[in-house]
Amino acid sequence: MKKLSKIDPARRLHSLTVGEVAARSGVPVSTLHFYETKGLIQSVRNAGNQRRYAREVLRRVAVIKVAQRIGVPLAEIGEALRELPDGRTPTAEDWNRLSARWRADLDERIRQLGLLRDQLSGCIGCGCLSMQACPLRNPWDALSEQGPGPRLFEAGQATAREGGG
Ligand code: FES
Repeated sequence: MKKLSKIDPARRLHSLTVGEVAARSGVPVSTLHFYETKGLIQSVRNAGNQRRYAREVLRRVAVIKVAQRIGVPLAEIGEALRELPDGRTPTAEDWNRLSARWRADLDERIRQLGLLRDQLSGCIGCGCLSMQACPLRNPWDALSEQGPGPRLFEAGQATAREGGG
């Protein structure tokens, strides 16, 4: 891979090739093309009919990558990015609007991840009876009478949603 280096100030506003975007973002060219087919990023064609990207595409790609990593579906990412203006570099206000839109969803994900982190070492009431705590917390899988799934984990979620945990 081409060694990345600090950009020449004179090139700051120059558009980037797909290869430069791939090198700087760490996302393969094929994925960038896929993002483009999904309308997540846009490029223009130069006189040679080659794709050229505005430098701000790097921020969009970074946001897509991070959002995907924490499990935000691509369709949801696309919806949110569509709130950003086309044809001009999004301002801080534009990004604030996007993050405000995502805040509740991200807070919910953070809360669920915290619950999972905290409960994985104990019994989650899933019926496996494989953990030391299971006989105590879910004797003979009594929790199955409450319905399918990890009953204790879901109960923990409900409690946390009600602000009790
Ligand atoms: S962890 Fe599965 S029943 Fe306890």
